[in-house]
Parts: sequence; C-alpha cells; structure tokens
Amino acid sequence: MLTLSFRDRFIGSVGIFCLTVCAALGQTTKSQITIHADTPGPKISPMFYGMMTEEINYGYDGGLYGELVQNRGLRNHPSNPVHWSLVTTGTGSGQMYLEPGSFGDMPSLKVKISSASDSGAVGVANDGFWGIPALPNTTYRATFYAKADSEFKGPLQVAIQSNDRRSILALSVVPRITRQWKQYTVELKTRSVPATSDNQLVIAGLHPGTFSLRTVSLFPPTYKNRANGNRPDIMEKLAEMQPSFLRLPGGNYLEGNTIAERFDWKATIGDVTKRQGHQGPWGYRSSDGMGLLEFLEWCEDLHMQAVLSVFAGYALQGEHVDAGPKLQPFVQDALDEIEYITGDTTTTWGARRAQDGHPKPFPLKYVEIGNEDSFDRSMNYDGRFTQFHDAIKAKYPFIQTIATASVRSRKPDVMDDHYYRSAADMERDSGHYDHYDRKGSKIFVGEWASIEGRPTPSHQAALGDAAWLIGLERNSDLVIMEAYAPLLVNVNPGASQWPTNLIGYDALTSFGSPSFYVQSMFAKNTGDEVIPTTVSTINSGPTKPFVPHGSIGLGTWRTDSEYKDAVVSHDNKTLYSKDFATGTEGWKLSQGTWKVDGGSLRQSSMGDDTHATAGDANWTDYTYQVKARKLGGSEGFLILFHAQNRSDYWQWNIGGWNNTRSAIQRHNRGNTEEMGRSTDTTVQTGRWYDIKIEIHGANVKCFLDGKLITEFTEQPIPPVNAIYAGASRVTRNGEVIVKVVNVTGEPVRTEMVLQGVRAVNPVCVGWELTGMPDDVNSIAEPTKVSPRSFRLDTVSNRFARTYPAYSVTVLRIRTRR
Ligand code: AHR
Repeated sequence: MLTLSFRDRFIGSVGIFCLTVCAALGQTTKSQITIHADTPGPKISPMFYGMMTEEINYGYDGGLYGELVQNRGLRNHPSNPVHWSLVTTGTGSGQMYLEPGSFGDMPSLKVKISSASDSGAVGVANDGFWGIPALPNTTYRATFYAKADSEFKGPLQVAIQSNDRRSILALSVVPRITRQWKQYTVELKTRSVPATSDNQLVIAGLHPGTFSLRTVSLFPPTYKNRANGNRPDIMEKLAEMQPSFLRLPGGNYLEGNTIAERFDWKATIGDVTKRQGHQGPWGYRSSDGMGLLEFLEWCEDLHMQAVLSVFAGYALQGEHVDAGPKLQPFVQDALDEIEYITGDTTTTWGARRAQDGHPKPFPLKYVEIGNEDSFDRSMNYDGRFTQFHDAIKAKYPFIQTIATASVRSRKPDVMDDHYYRSAADMERDSGHYDHYDRKGSKIFVGEWASIEGRPTPSHQAALGDAAWLIGLERNSDLVIMEAYAPLLVNVNPGASQWPTNLIGYDALTSFGSPSFYVQSMFAKNTGDEVIPTTVSTINSGPTKPFVPHGSIGLGTWRTDSEYKDAVVSHDNKTLYSKDFATGTEGWKLSQGTWKVDGGSLRQSSMGDDTHATAGDANWTDYTYQVKARKLGGSEGFLILFHAQNRSDYWQWNIGGWNNTRSAIQRHNRGNTEEMGRSTDTTVQTGRWYDIKIEIHGANVKCFLDGKLITEFTEQPIPPVNAIYAGASRVTRNGEVIVKVVNVTGEPVRTEMVLQGVRAVNPVCVGWELTGMPDDVNSIAEPTKVSPRSFRLDTVSNRFARTYPAYSVTVLRIRTRR
C-alpha cells in the first residue's frame, strides 16, 4: 500500500487547486524556470566534482582494494588467527596455530600435519571478506611466504574451494617448499563455473610434517592490471562519476582514535608484505595495502588530482599535540609527504617514490590540515593550523591550504564544510551559500550526504542530494569542490559502520545508489559557467500549527546505566508514571540488553544508541522526570523526548562524547544535529541523578539535579520547494545544461524560458532519474533506480515540459547567442 506523506498530500491539494484555477485561466503551467543566459555567472571550478575516501565500511579492505584474503598480516587479533581455520579431509589430521614474531616481528601461521596422504589433506583456509569470490573464466593470483621443517617438503595444494568442500573451483600446486622463507606465486584459473562467493582459499599439504605461512594473498584481475591494484567493477563505477579529485585519506581514518592509530603515511609505503597495518577508528584493522602510493595511482588511473589530508596532531579520542616544538615532527611528516607526492627524483622522498615504482611526480594543489578539528576540545586548532600552514607555504608556495575548523591567525585558502542531514533539510538549505561572504576563504564541501536509506541512499535521499548540488553549483565562485561521503560500503551484515553510503557491493558485484546516479549525471553535465536561473514554484510545507510533540524514552551509548521512577506530567497532573518493579509493560525496548533489576530498568550492553520508549507520540507541553545511575562504560545517559519512531526523536545526551559534554540532539532519519548550546558534563559512576525535561510549546529546558543545564527553542521548519533548478553553459559551443529536481509526488508542468539566446536547436537530449521515495538499489536490484535517456524535439526559447514526480532531470540544449 502506498501511504502519502504530508508533502504528497499538500502538493496533491495544490495540484487540484491549480488544475481548477489554471484551467479557468486557460493556463497549464505550475512552475516556471527562467534561464538568464544574457547575465554573466561565475565560472565553474574545473575541480568541482570529486570524491572523499577513507577506510570505513570495509571500503578498501573487503572493498575497492583487490586483496581477497582477510587478515593477510595475521595481526587482526594478538593470539587468534581470525578468518583462518584448520581444514582436514579424509583421514588427515593436524593442528594450526599462530606463531608470533616468527619472521622479524611478523607473525606466521604454523600447520602441523600428524597424518596426511593423497586421500587426506591438512591445511588452512581463509574465509575472505564475506566469502572468496569465484567468477567464471577468471585468473586469480595467489602469493604467500612458506617454509617447512626437515620432514615436510611439499607439495602444497592451493585452491579456491566451496565452503561445503564439494567443489574445487580452481587449483594449483607448489611441488616443493624449502626450510627458508620464500615467496611463492601460483595462478588459480576458474573454468565456466557459476559465480559464487561461499568459498574459501585453502592451502594444504598431503604429507606429515610442519609448514608455516605468512602474508598469504589472493588477487583477482585488477583495474588496468595494476599489481596490488583495485577491483575493476568498483573502479568503473567511480570512473562513471568523472571525479576530478580524491580527498585522501579523509575522515576519521586520517586521525585515528589515538595518535598511534593515525594514518601514518610512512608506514603505508614500500613492500606490501612488510606493511604492518594499523587499527582504524571504525572498529577493524586496516592492512595498509591501500597505502599512499596506491591512493596516488588510483588518482592517476581515474585522471584525478589528489587533495591530500595531512595528520595535524589531533586524534578522535581527544589526544592532541600543542602547537610548538612537539608538533614539529608531524609538520615535517607532512612536508615529507608532499615531497613524496610532488618531488622529483633528486629529492629524498621523490627518490623514495621512484624506488617504490613511480618516478614521475604527481600533481598536487590542495593540502588539508586535519579533519573536523572543531571537535578538538582543547581549542588548539588555530595554533596547529598556523604551524602547518606556514611551513607548507614556505616550502611549497603554490599549495593551497584547507582548514577544517575556523582559524583566526591565518586566512586559509579554503575551508572544508561537512553536512550530514535529512533529504528535506538538504532541499531546504539548497541556498546555503547564496549569501556567503565572497571575501573569505573558498569552500570545499568535503563531506556531505542526505542520510536516508541503509546501507545505501534511497531515491528520497537522491532528490535531497540533487537539490543541494544545484545550490552548490550555483555558488561555484565560492564552492570550488564537493565530495559525497562515505563513498563505499560492503553491504554484508556487520560490514558497515555508517548508515548511508554511495556505492554498495559484496564479494561478487557492486551497485550504484540513486545518489550515485545523481553524482554521475551532474558531473558528466557540469558546463564551465553558471547561468543565473530563477524558479517560480509552488511550496509544500506545514499548514498545521507548529507544535513539537512526541513520546518519551531512555537510552545509552556504550554505557551500562539504570533508570527508575519515570513520570510525565502536565500542569502538575500526572499523565504517565512507571515503576519498573512492575515490569516493562508499555515500553518498547529496541537494541541493547534491557532488564528490570532491583526495581530499575537497566541497559547493560555496550552497544551504541540503545533505546526504550513509551507513551503517546502526540504528547505536547509536558514535564518528563526520571532518575538515572551509571553502572559502567564510557558515557552517561540518553533521555529521549519528542519521539515519533525509532529514527525520528530528540534526546538529551548527558555525558556524551566520552563523558565530557551534554547537549540536546535531534535525530531524524539517521541524521543527528546538535540543538543549542552544549555544556561540559561528566557523569559519575554509581551515583543517582534526578533528570527533568520541561517542554512548553517549542521550548525545552533540561535540568540535572534541579539545576538548569541547557535550553533550546525549536523554530518552525521552513517549507521545501517543489522544483529546484540550475543552469550552466559550455562556453566552447554555447550549449546550455539545465538541471531540474521535482521533489514532490506530483508531476509538475513547467515552462522553461531561455532569455538572451538567439536560436535554440529544437532537438535536445536529456536524462531522467525517477522512483518512489523509499526505492533503493541493491545487489538483487542494482539498477532499480537508474537514469533513462530521452530526446525532446520541440525545444525553443519558451517551452513546457512535465517533470515527473520525484525526479531529477538533466537537459542539454544547443543554442546560439
Ligand atoms: O564520513 C564519515 C565520517 O563523518 C568521517 O569519518 C568524519 O570526518 C565525519 O564525521
């Protein structure tokens, strides 16, 4: 059943009104787009559309980076060879264990075969990243180091084998191995087998004795056949986005949870088998197979420029290095990194790059100093930025610096702004940069996304993206670059850490989301000059009075906490009260381990965003009181109000951000925004707190132990437009490119007026992306929402066209001025 959203219903009624009134007036147009081709607009930055990348959601390992073996370096766990298992067939028997530091400080995998024969093998298997793929007629390349004891001489069988052991999909044999570590390479060729991924890579012996393995690797054919290269299907999708730059590596991955876990570029170059890998901030270890040179080669393959992010002395959990002599080694590291990228072979690091296989320097214009440094509570970024900026400018005056938070002491060439919001918020804020100061730094919107759809965006998100991008393009005298984030997600259960991501894949195939198609449609049709455009359009928006409302709830984030005596009152009258000693009736418990314990409701898991909600979603103007006690873990309490459902609610986060702050947060379809002022708050373990939230109309006051901590008054949400449009010109041939988004559930008849062009070619080509708001693409339906091309034959200076419901359209109109 299709349920109409408020927006649909409103537009629906406008549609009926319009049909009646417009018909009476003899008109059919509901919207008009005027393209002022006679008015000069800003040049569009040639680096406008790009990509942001980091190791998140198994984006490199288990994603773009071709390696198929998980835990190749055997360091994912100190004592367990995770992702490896012992395999025996027939009468074979033996053991497998991890031997730490057996080669230098590299661990190895020891296999002791007590009995084996031609009919009973013993070996080890790697389960890959949610399976080892076997595609038909494909040559895989396995490499590994091996050594044997005096008894064992080989042979070793290397195979891609189905998990049920019934099928060997590709097999090769290493006849002998020696008592010294030596690297072996074999080809594993599949025949015309069906494509499967429920397979393992198996290395097994057929005779008793002991052998050891390390750095076992399996690569499929890679994009442009690069050694240690990337998965072709994903690279082809990235190429379709025609990106002009790659922000590398961006995001939290640059910073790491601690300084020791930062992206330390020097540990990511040189012989892949010697790279140790490092713990990333998204809960898993990175092999560092995708190192600095691999990033640069990725840029080379897709004709992109690197936008280099350098570690700037601040790590996610708050560790930081003050500006001054202690920061200098990190500044030097950044200078060395720039030299590695741009230096010729007479420089120390340019020579090192040549030694690593790439004598030719790479182009580099932008260097970003840190990532999201407004999170640095020590307020240290100004000094850190200045030290990096001055050192970089002194040695590389042609480099433009990018700041990630506001700075006073220097004027950064560029500021990096990030936005993760709902589609409606993106649409509403499409004019964000229209009135920005043009004398300040240029803007790089280095991370943004309409967050709707899991693990990849829905069509609704794509509409928000398109409206937002039209606003960015219109301001491209100021906004010189943009990059959607995150870029990649392995869609297997448990593989993703971020809700909404551009391109999805499993071990076998990949797909672009509707938002991916918006990016590629827009990037392929950029033009080089903005044409000022005006849109007269109908609005959809709230017609009901604005009264925030919702039910109540409790939650935790990586914390064991208990709650009791929840009371909701209105005008001193109790609307609801709960004594948990009577059980949890009336409460919806979602995520986490909730249990009544001694009269309190306790959540004991260390999960993120655990929730328990109760009450009436229509409640307005109420006081919510509850007692809370922390029993363990890293943060404090989440007190929910204005709750509509699991993804639309408000909360007072007390002792969030690693038990340092409290703030009111609005959650809407995966998007979290801080509302109002946050305050320094630390929750003590073992102590009961009295929590009170008073709601009067749109005003919220939050009290802890009777003291007012924070307050916020919500403003009515402004309406979104029905139609968003922007235009640009290809200066070379006068072609006019028009982008139109209809965010409503109604087709919108629109008249397009081209002012200031002499002649218009009546034939024009276009592309259109349509779907229902909740439609998503997936492995099973990879192109459910994808653009279709079309042709119009009656284009003129003034022509009407109906833009379908929920659509993104690009038109290329040939004109003469
Ligand atoms: O894109 C996901 C994360 O969002 C990035 O790592 C970080 O920069 C931002 O907070």
